[in-house]
Amino acid sequence: MNPNPSSPDAPAGAPQQLVIFGASGDLTQRKLIPALAALIEKGRPREGFNVVGVARREKTSEAWRNELREALEPDQRKGFDLLAPHVHYLPGDVGDSAFMDQLSQKLDGLPGGRETGRLFYLSIKPELFGAAAKNLGKAGLLQHREGAKRAWRRIIVEKPFGHDLRTARTLNHDLHEVLLEEQIFRIDHYLGKETVQNILGFRFHNAIFEPVWNREHVELIQVTVAEELGMENGRGGYYDGTGALRDMVQNHMLQVLSLICMEAPASLDADVVRGNKVAVLKALRPPDSDEMEKYTVRAQYAAGKVGGKKVPGYKEEEGVAKDSNTETFAAIRASIDNWRWAGVPIMLRHGKRLQKRFTEVVVQFRMPPQQLFNKPDKMTDEEFRRALRDGSLCQIRPNTMTLSIQPKEGISLSFGVKQPGTAMVMAPARWDFDYKSTFECRARRRTSGCCTTR
Ligand SMILES: NC(=O)c1ccc[n+]([C@@H]2O[C@H](COP(=O)([O-])OP(=O)(O)OC[C@H]3O[C@@H](n4cnc5c(N)ncnc54)[C@H](OP(=O)(O)O)[C@@H]3O)[C@@H](O)[C@H]2O)c1
Repeated sequence: MNPNPSSPDAPAGAPQQLVIFGASGDLTQRKLIPALAALIEKGRPREGFNVVGVARREKTSEAWRNELREALEPDQRKGFDLLAPHVHYLPGDVGDSAFMDQLSQKLDGLPGGRETGRLFYLSIKPELFGAAAKNLGKAGLLQHREGAKRAWRRIIVEKPFGHDLRTARTLNHDLHEVLLEEQIFRIDHYLGKETVQNILGFRFHNAIFEPVWNREHVELIQVTVAEELGMENGRGGYYDGTGALRDMVQNHMLQVLSLICMEAPASLDADVVRGNKVAVLKALRPPDSDEMEKYTVRAQYAAGKVGGKKVPGYKEEEGVAKDSNTETFAAIRASIDNWRWAGVPIMLRHGKRLQKRFTEVVVQFRMPPQQLFNKPDKMTDEEFRRALRDGSLCQIRPNTMTLSIQPKEGISLSFGVKQPGTAMVMAPARWDFDYKSTFECRARRRTSGCCTTR
């Protein structure tokens, strides 16, 4: 997570030198360069910004620029063309400490030299993170330059951050050998989504929800990440050593959950926000080991159909071991042992090759203490009370707040309204906020005044 942005070494603008280790990789082509091109088009980063790509394959800077440009969508090329003259390639191996001296010389020769901020992005295999950091440290590339406030040094570490607790600790230890904590950015792309960032804004900018955002009023919280995709594009080999829990649950889903459940931060200072999120994670209690079977599910998809198209089972996918035990579906019922959430079940669910792709958080509120409406004619009062207790009456639904993260981006609140007619029957209704239509409409209104004010 972010180090303190208000630290004295924080940059006033964007980084001036960015080194991407893993220059020819998938992440660089599909995400990093398009993101940079988009920033450049919006006028950031500022002048003096240079990118150096590093990978083992020999090629010239010009060849790398051409490759990157080719991989971009036509509408991304305008930003890239502004950046291109400042894009360089240096072939080398991050495991080779002598190469880091070459890199150091290259960076010293770029605008700003040693007196400018440097960001090292580790877009390489996780096994190389430790060696890359160590060799950068050995070459003196990670030292903040004393007295030169803008000459900061930072590192971005891609996921996965270790395979388990032991390896994550080892990696942390290796990084801390050469870096201060505030220099390390462990990236989680999920946190960049508007809808995820909005959770913080929505909860703490609007006063009306806070009084009901607790165990007194909330009955259940469900976080679901459902994917239609399986192991397309040769992902099987990577995924089989990872699985649903490591790939999605322990990182992205817990980040989302911590935003949903955290206390209000005293400020938006990154350390303060992180502290409050960590407090949620510390209070999160997974099921005890003797309850594991009751409260968790691990499963693998079998052959079937998604969207009417036949798809293979997980073990038939390319790169997956025939006897693989890796889960492609995981569900956990956990609890948060603190004053706000004690006793509220927290359901986390994620799977691949499910019927529909969606990511959402559903906060389900408690039912009214007395149910006055919608008793089926044939039921006695006793039967009605029993049906309410076991939740078998679908015409009586709790209020829910759904925060849709993708592909739908929005928020909806469900409630009951009186159905028109002589009988006092309540029917379900919703208030919907949709990111796209709301903000597209506002943008159109600003430029052409085409929409009426809402
Ligand atoms: N792709 C994604 O969508 C995605 C999403 C989330 C996280 N990540 C993470 O991002 C990182 C990169 O993933 P990727 O999919 O881009 O991997 P990738 O396509 O396999 O690319 C790896 C890059 O590293 C370079 N490389 C390999 N060994 C090297 C060495 N010893 N020294 C210098 N460069 C070396 C490779 O080029 P050479 O062979 O020429 O050296 C290549 O440019 C991984 O940690 C991955 O877990 C990826």
